[in-house]
Amino acid sequence: MEEQVLLTMRDITKTFPGVVALDHAQLTLRKGEVHALMGENGAGKSTIIKCLTGVYERDAGEVRMEGVEGSIYNHSTQEAQRIGIATVYQEVNLCPNLSIAENLFIGREPRTMIHTVDWKTMNRRAQKIMDNLEIHVDATATLETCSIAIQQMVAIARAVDMDCKLLILDEPTSSLDDKEVAKLFKLMRTLRDSGVGIVFVTHFLEQVYEVCDRITVMRNGQFVGEYSVSELPRVKLVAAMLGKDFDDLASIKPEGRVSVSDEVVLDAEHLSHKGTIKPFDFRIRKGEVVGVTGLLGSGRSEMVRCIYGADKAQSGTERMMGKTLKANSPIDSIKAGMGFLPDDRKADGCIGDLSVRENIILALQARDGMFKRIPRTKQAEMADHFIDLLQIKTASRETPLNQLSGGNQQKVILARWLCTHPDFLILDEPTRGIDIGTKTEFQKLVLQFAAEGMSIVFISSEIEEMLRTCTRMCVMRDGEKVGEIQGSMTQESVMSAIAGGEKK
Ligand SMILES: Nc1ncnc2c1ncn2[C@@H]1O[C@H](COP(=O)(O)OP(=O)(O)OP(=O)(O)O)[C@@H](O)[C@H]1O
Ligand SMILES: [Mg+2]
Repeated sequence: MEEQVLLTMRDITKTFPGVVALDHAQLTLRKGEVHALMGENGAGKSTIIKCLTGVYERDAGEVRMEGVEGSIYNHSTQEAQRIGIATVYQEVNLCPNLSIAENLFIGREPRTMIHTVDWKTMNRRAQKIMDNLEIHVDATATLETCSIAIQQMVAIARAVDMDCKLLILDEPTSSLDDKEVAKLFKLMRTLRDSGVGIVFVTHFLEQVYEVCDRITVMRNGQFVGEYSVSELPRVKLVAAMLGKDFDDLASIKPEGRVSVSDEVVLDAEHLSHKGTIKPFDFRIRKGEVVGVTGLLGSGRSEMVRCIYGADKAQSGTERMMGKTLKANSPIDSIKAGMGFLPDDRKADGCIGDLSVRENIILALQARDGMFKRIPRTKQAEMADHFIDLLQIKTASRETPLNQLSGGNQQKVILARWLCTHPDFLILDEPTRGIDIGTKTEFQKLVLQFAAEGMSIVFISSEIEEMLRTCTRMCVMRDGEKVGEIQGSMTQESVMSAIAGGEKK
């Protein structure tokens, strides 16, 4: 039986000043399938989606959708919605100060006889939608009081409720934990079975194999190929994405690392933060890479925020290379040689209007003081170095940050901290949204910095990634450091420690 084609995009071209974002790209979606759109950072995934949904106008190419006469040109997202295309973007774009119910019904609020908003009906219907999706929240709650995960689910719920024929999810899972991902996948399967076509953008390979039926791979704005998931083994997929064979992943192993010295770089005793984290000790030696693991919300981020001084420690003492640190003073920490890449990068100052160069030198400039301007040539040199090292895809070093793809923005923020070359660097989810090739390069870099004597704390939701880089891991559960594991760590041993190993 020939499956029914829902959407055909052919020969799509889109250029920005100095950048060819899409070069004769194509995408074909069938009814009732989950279709993965894969490719490196900057490959053009978000752009092809935005050409479909009316955020961008394409320069050339044809878009056809089942049930719609002729080639479609959406000039606005509303138009796209009208023909049944719903989108959840990489960045949640809802109104934080409105309630969940209001966000669900923006632009299509139920009305009373006299055309005022029918709040009662709206709230009741909103609650029903959330309950049906098994999302346990009060629909009248203000959106900004909800976790990022819930906000994401609200965005999806809104799309689902609009009876869409085509649902687009651009990296929806990067800030969800395993349980939430499972919930989302269940929802995706239900929708698929009812005939909805779903485009799913993700950098997590396992997720592709778990939930997708077919894959389109893009590279440098071009179409590479379309495959059925069952016919495309992982190595082939990665090779298609990178355009070369890829056996590097296997070659990075913690074995053969330089041995760690005895010199203690940071020594924290009995630190705690009221309400979020119980007293813990933490010690790291020169050249050590230590992981912090635990479920989302277990206190991983809170622990490192406390060490860095972003959250005021309620108790305990902290010394860095013998010198006592002031609690609650990130500047003191930075001056002592600490660096901190937080997991909430949006809030941390991904400054969109500033150039790539200005964003990269920001932390270094802050450390040295605003009066000691880094010379322009030096700035340019550093920016170019990191653009090259992290393979940041940008038209130039002077390009405003917000013109870069999501993953490339992330790399810039990472470069910002790497260029301060701290003695002790805390990385909270540094590779979120970063493609697999760069992830591997990044892991190598972590090991290289450690070999040069940098001490690093590395938090990642992907245990694999920590296993490749860390010699030791702290295990967090419910705001408490419940133990440390080291030696021959495996995915299983780490998982069982997270789930509830012995308290030490
Ligand atoms: N508004 C814009 N102005 C200029 N260039 C842009 C703009 N939006 C995207 N680009 C460029 O187009 C290319 C493709 O970007 P796109 O966001 O589609 O990548 P992506 O595949 O979604 O990557 P990621 O995995 O990092 O999200 C990039 O080189 C990017 O710099
Ligand atoms: Mg993108």
